[in-house]
Amino acid sequence: MRLHDFPRAALGHFPTPICRLEAISSLINTQVYIKRDDLSGLGLGGNKTRVLEFLLGDAQAKGAQLVFTTGTPQSNHAMLTAAAAGKCGMQTVLLLKKRGSTDCVGNQILNRMMHTEIRWIDTDDYEEIYAEMDLLGEAMGKPYYKIPCGGSNALGTLGYVDCAREISQQGFRPSHIICAEGSGGTAAGLTLGAQMFLPGAQVHAMSICSEPFAQIVPALMRGAAALLGEDGPENPKPPSQRQMQGEGFGVLSPEGRAAAEQMARLEGLFLDPCFTAKAFAGLLQMAEEGAFTPDDRVLFYHSGGAGGIFA
Ligand SMILES: Cc1ncc(COP(=O)(O)O)c(C=O)c1O
Repeated sequence: MRLHDFPRAALGHFPTPICRLEAISSLINTQVYIKRDDLSGLGLGGNKTRVLEFLLGDAQAKGAQLVFTTGTPQSNHAMLTAAAAGKCGMQTVLLLKKRGSTDCVGNQILNRMMHTEIRWIDTDDYEEIYAEMDLLGEAMGKPYYKIPCGGSNALGTLGYVDCAREISQQGFRPSHIICAEGSGGTAAGLTLGAQMFLPGAQVHAMSICSEPFAQIVPALMRGAAALLGEDGPENPKPPSQRQMQGEGFGVLSPEGRAAAEQMARLEGLFLDPCFTAKAFAGLLQMAEEGAFTPDDRVLFYHSGGAGGIFA
């Protein structure tokens, strides 16, 4: 099927702007731009709106009335799923892992405002969590739809393939694209999409946790390419990977803090502590290592996460 033939829920405001970062460009002596997916429209913005347009479009086409997803207590994806499903007239139940603080701060405040039903799950094992979704769905007696952690499956990945198409349609030709990597869909979709729509662009994925992305991302790319059939490139090349987690998932690293402060002071833009601060720190590290020429057009993908700033 072609990208524009998949059923989609209209959730976001697209295209999101691409803006030049003047002060950062002077600072690191290359041409730095930002793709403002933090302004994607739904909730506080963020990358997951693109994924949810495809996944909830599929859920609606299948007649679902109830949506399940999972994540950590501060999951941006889980909060945005509740916002998106509510807008589509569907009920949401979040099965959130008890890992970390479950306090009513950050995204939990937003979940509470939406009256989102939360079940706290005391396991990290996704198979157990997905089995629990089936049990709950049967017990609740409504047609239900399961969304994996981060929305990162083959269909969700198409959201970011479409983002690469959007960048190309905006007339922008990046030499490098830098994004955060948490469950892998963003990196997989942007890389696949770049090979389809942005020839010459290299994607660099900044890992903010220690999942085996060298396997996860190529598998997502193959799955998304298979959904696109003839349009999907054969043997798509994976992105470069850089480990930027620091001390742990969701723990702001010293480099991440410095990078977020630099972006705030020089450009008046805010990065979140879990994903985008660490991704931008990765971009600054690459610049320091001489990875970019003065003429390169380096596109930083701002994937949102504002709720996390207040957690
Ligand atoms: C703000 C933000 N940026 C980046 C990511 C990483 O995206 P992905 O899970 O597709 O790797 C996430 C994931 O939840 C996120 O919330």
